[in-house]
Amino acid sequence: MIPYCSICWEDNKVRLLDQRLLPQEELYLEITDYHDIIEAIRTLAIRGAPAIGVAAAMGAALGALALKTEDPEEFKKSFAAICQEIAAARPTAVNLFWALNRMQDVVKAHPAEPVAALQERLVREAQVILKEDDTTNRHLAQHGQVVIKDGDQVLTHCNTGALATGAYGTALGVMRAAWEAGKRFSVWVDETRPLLQGARLTTWELGKIGIPYTLIPDGAAAALMQKGRVNVIIVGADRIAANGDTANKIGTYSLAVLAQYHGVPFYVAAPFSTFDFSLADGLQIPVEERAPEEVTRFRREILAPSGAQALNLAFDVTPNELITGIITEKGIARQPLISDIKYLRSAKD
Ligand code: MRU
Repeated sequence: MIPYCSICWEDNKVRLLDQRLLPQEELYLEITDYHDIIEAIRTLAIRGAPAIGVAAAMGAALGALALKTEDPEEFKKSFAAICQEIAAARPTAVNLFWALNRMQDVVKAHPAEPVAALQERLVREAQVILKEDDTTNRHLAQHGQVVIKDGDQVLTHCNTGALATGAYGTALGVMRAAWEAGKRFSVWVDETRPLLQGARLTTWELGKIGIPYTLIPDGAAAALMQKGRVNVIIVGADRIAANGDTANKIGTYSLAVLAQYHGVPFYVAAPFSTFDFSLADGLQIPVEERAPEEVTRFRREILAPSGAQALNLAFDVTPNELITGIITEKGIARQPLISDIKYLRSAKD
């Protein structure tokens, strides 16, 4: 049992672990106003595609509860506006929009209900989205753990654990399931510049599970692969296009190129809620550009001369042909990815 949760709903409040402060401080924020959820998503107090989806749904539920009208039509209009506001928090992780669509579908499916009943349904739906994410990740992890063998050295990028999801994790969930199945292996953790999700969060989570890891600067991955010290790479995703092109934390694409050059299997682990079937390929995925100050300083520490130019693309897109397989809750899609993804998508849960 892991003694923390990234986000939960308690007494009509959202309780979330402030990931900006980890690993130094374990502080839970109690949020009652949906504007504070937007701020938490924007500033990465909560982050990781599935966790952003859960936070968006809970934010929408808070927004719905705050609406004072008893007129269902007015409620629907105001609720749609709240969802639109939340949708603008971050652009890349599609789980954000997926979760908000689910919340809006609840309202659409019950056109004749009074406001109080709709509010109750929305609060319940947000909790269902959280619960489902936990179950989905556990299935995904069971399917994926076969890619890890005893004695492997696994490499991962960014953070994809319980912190980045409703619970359990995606890529890190795969490692957790392999560990729980009795396999013994170790993990190279990319520090993941500029916000250090690997150094601050993945190490923290692996430590709690008890999986041995070694933290490395992002630039060290190539040398380790050259020396044959990486057996498999497993990363998460923020949005996957219909053809399997995958947006994930900046630096993922370079890992995939290196993996192909060195013959290392490269897996993406993500639930179907991270697929965007409206996009034929990854070129159309919107990539978030964040403030340059995140590159020129870390917290209060100044890292570059004043006035230094910096570019802060938060994600990159890995072309499908560099991906060995996509691990989902319905099984592993392998090359050729397009047909396997189609097949799994239509398969029963
Ligand atoms: O900017 P972040 O920290 O939200 O980016 C997170 C990632 O890129 C993760 O790899 C991805 O969301 C998958 S989380 C299970």
